[in-house]
Amino acid sequence: MLEINLESEPLSETWRNDTVSVLYELARQFPGQPVTMIAGRERLLLLQDRGRIRHVLVSNADKYLKNFGGFEMLFGRSRFTTDGDLWRQLQAISQPYITGARPAEVVTASVTAFERAADRLLAAGPGPVAIDPILNRATGDVIADVTFGDHGLDIENTVEDLRNVLRFGSQLSWNIGSLSTPDDENERRIADASRARLAQSITAALERSGAMVGASGLLKSIFEMEIEGSDPVAEVAALLFAGLDTSAAAMVWGLFLLANSPDLQKHLRQQVRGVLGNAPPSLEMLQQIPDLAAFRDEVMRIFPPVPMLGRISVAADTVDGVEIEPGQRLMLSIVGLHHDPQTFPRPGQVQLSRYKSGRLDGAAAQSHMPFGGGKRICAGVRIGNVELLTAFAVLLNRVEVKLADLSPLKFEWTASLRRRGGQRLMIAAAR
Ligand code: HEM
Repeated sequence: MLEINLESEPLSETWRNDTVSVLYELARQFPGQPVTMIAGRERLLLLQDRGRIRHVLVSNADKYLKNFGGFEMLFGRSRFTTDGDLWRQLQAISQPYITGARPAEVVTASVTAFERAADRLLAAGPGPVAIDPILNRATGDVIADVTFGDHGLDIENTVEDLRNVLRFGSQLSWNIGSLSTPDDENERRIADASRARLAQSITAALERSGAMVGASGLLKSIFEMEIEGSDPVAEVAALLFAGLDTSAAAMVWGLFLLANSPDLQKHLRQQVRGVLGNAPPSLEMLQQIPDLAAFRDEVMRIFPPVPMLGRISVAADTVDGVEIEPGQRLMLSIVGLHHDPQTFPRPGQVQLSRYKSGRLDGAAAQSHMPFGGGKRICAGVRIGNVELLTAFAVLLNRVEVKLADLSPLKFEWTASLRRRGGQRLMIAAAR
């Protein structure tokens, strides 16, 4: 098997500063191949192919646990980070609220939030405009509305505090052996202050909903849960993060790809306007826009908001000829899976023609895994998909985007995949 010494230069420097660009490079040079990444005494197994990744996530999932160390340290034990009985009990609390969200309500909440985002983008234009904070806020509003109900949380500040904590948490999660980034004192101070503010505002929201006689909802259920080892504040923070950061990342990359291709932008805008006219979007109308869902799926294929999943094995296993010992740390590269040219020729390009009658099929469908897979698959697949479809329709209708920054792409992996330093675009009212 291919072995790569992560301590060799210039790789170690790149790994520390831009882990995700290493994933893209491995996908380009060694598509589909398993790779052992060595750092001192640590040996990490990186998988990039459909068969082995599905084996770990889906068919043999019981032999693997989640590995999300940094987040647990910062957020405490939540449904996102735990496994086994505790995870099952926590899952049972929030799952009905997440999967129970009605798609029509997600459309309504998304129209409101993204019309407001369009106003804010246009007010900040022509730019260059930093689009991440505006889209973070919009996805925060949607998730608060559709899953938390009457929450009373200050979403603007909550979103920024969550991101500060996550930026630090993601550094800790992927530290390996000698390649650990030195603990940045300033980042830690910012993260600690944000965590304290988050704990205070989430505790207040939980207590308010707990005190409401006869009220129901996700916050109340979390407030009332009596599960040993659980942490209500961590649970709310993790659910907020899971619901907003990933969707916002997909939105940001979607606008970047549209800015990169004015013809594609024009084509999709025409389709959106052809179907919607002046009417506010409904789910049925959104589903009739021929290429919109394919575009959304291409965005998440090219720039998967969660570029890699971490697992740790609890039992010996063999995955298509690769021996796995108990305790082995695994990295499942969603970037590798989505950029294998055998499955997705010219993987870096948006190609709507991959989606026959709007969908991928065969091996391509099995390889498209932006939401993960198996028993730990994203709980918000439906919310995320409907929200993104609505948001792209609203923004294409209102806003024209152009590139402002022609420098080569560098990535920042805070909880989800972002452009280093943020994405800046030129903004104008769409004609
Ligand atoms: C484009 C949007 C989204 C993407 C790409 C995404 C991606 C993911 C991925 C890859 C995982 C699995 C992580 C792993 O296996 O280690 C996950 C888990 C999860 N996601 Fe999402 N997500 C999105 C939106 C949402 C939304 C809107 C919600 C709604 C609240 C949500 C809630 C969750 C939850 C609760 C989990 C943990 C599931 C569990 O293990 O119990 N996500 N997401």
